[in-house]
Amino acid sequence: MWYTIQRIPTYLTMKLFLDTANIAYVEEIASWGVLDGVTTNPSLVAKEGADFEKTVKAMGDLVPCVSAQVTATDSQEMIKQGEQYASWHKNVYVKVPMTVEGLKALTYFREKGIRTNTTLIFSANQAILAAKAGANIISPFIGRLDDAGQDGMGLIAEIMQIWNNYNFDTEVLVASTRHPRHIVEAAELGAHISTIPYALFKKLPNHPLTDSGIIKFQEDWESVKQ
Ligand code: G3P
Repeated sequence: MWYTIQRIPTYLTMKLFLDTANIAYVEEIASWGVLDGVTTNPSLVAKEGADFEKTVKAMGDLVPCVSAQVTATDSQEMIKQGEQYASWHKNVYVKVPMTVEGLKALTYFREKGIRTNTTLIFSANQAILAAKAGANIISPFIGRLDDAGQDGMGLIAEIMQIWNNYNFDTEVLVASTRHPRHIVEAAELGAHISTIPYALFKKLPNHPLTDSGIIKFQEDWESVKQ
């Protein structure tokens, strides 16, 4: 019908992920109709104290991409953990830390068709290596770079420039976001995904002029209503 609103396919937009291991938060933000995925990490899982497998399965039912991070440091152990996680739900992306052992595991997962997200990326060289090893997603941590006195968003600019020069099909996920401008700047640079903590996600719909505008519209409407 002519008035049916078509959603723009997500591959044409920046994807928005929630950075959490809290299922209720995922349900809440998913209900807005804007959520494309979830990233978890061992610290976030430990904070919630819930069963990891149950959490990942529940989130996999809510969004098409859930990152579940291996804790092993040896490639063979990473592979065992990753294969187990991938068996839990079709929407699992195995999250692998950026190490030489991680690169070996990424290569294995690529050959097996298991999707991956490479985490703890802090340099463009790491980004290139992870992409060449077949990572589906790479996660540069911009907030932690800023904390260390470096330019986190500058790293995203550098990576996107490199991605424009070549045909990497690895998606660039901006992680460790800390404030609303990070999301805008990531979009301006053409990053494919931003992962956003719950408290920051809740700030994004708000603007004081929207709030005051709604109040004024309501007051004016009430003043003339019969
Ligand atoms: O997804 C990675 C992210 O959770 C790291 O964020 O705030 O711990 O640096 P942060």
